Amino acid sequence: MRIGHLLGTGRSADVYAMDEAWVLRRYRDSSDARPELAVMSYLSAFGYPVPRLGPSPAAATPSDLVLQRLTGPTMLESLLSGALTGDEGAAILAGLLTDLHTIPARLSPEPEDRILHLDLHPDNVMLTPDGPVVIDWRTATEGPPALDRAMSSLILAQVAVDRTSPLATGARSLLTALLPHLADQGGIPDAQLAQAVCRRAADPNLTQDEREFIDEAAGLISEWAG
Ligand SMILES: Nc1ncnc2c1ncn2[C@@H]1O[C@H](COP(=O)(O)OP(=O)(O)O)[C@@H](O)[C@H]1O
Ligand SMILES: [Mg+2]
Repeated sequence: MRIGHLLGTGRSADVYAMDEAWVLRRYRDSSDARPELAVMSYLSAFGYPVPRLGPSPAAATPSDLVLQRLTGPTMLESLLSGALTGDEGAAILAGLLTDLHTIPARLSPEPEDRILHLDLHPDNVMLTPDGPVVIDWRTATEGPPALDRAMSSLILAQVAVDRTSPLATGARSLLTALLPHLADQGGIPDAQLAQAVCRRAADPNLTQDEREFIDEAAGLISEWAG
């Protein structure tokens, strides 16, 4: 299997170019990526914007995914460069959440349950020439859409309340613009916010500093969304 240069990296995966069409996404801790295949292929069938799944090379391991090579910046990069405003970013995020939550659950028998991304934030959206595409489906599960809204808001709020972060002001503007959209989708009930707090606190990828901001971040959301 020929792997090209490193195209991108996140907290858990490295993404390498394979050729013009495909990338290899590999978990650094050897996590199993196969559950994501089923979710992404299901969402693709509904026309939801996820990277296309590619042919797996013989030498691939269970922590490898071959995905469509996307071009364009992440939403975070566009917000930071000023190419995208907070209002525009918020409208895109809200649209991606609402579209995801119109798709019926794949496994759950609960009629209200939907597929949830649970990590839908500006660094997991790529702005391609064909429109925004949602990447990084590691945390995907099924449940009430309000939990997805709570997670996206909490992730932004954690950055917004960290006064030492250069991203704090931008995160605050984005969250301010996002919350009214989420209110239109049904808002963020206390129960789902509490669940989001538990999930964030249990995330091993969080730094100690980030962990300390979770409660303050949840307070900000209750205050603004309540
Ligand atoms: N299909 C893709 N095509 C091109 N670049 C990608 C693709 N998927 C991810 N990337 C790049 O790799 C980075 C990390 O990918 P991501 O799946 O979010 O990993 P992590 O789970 O570590 O956050 C992204 O921010 C993006 O820059
Ligand atoms: Mg990511």
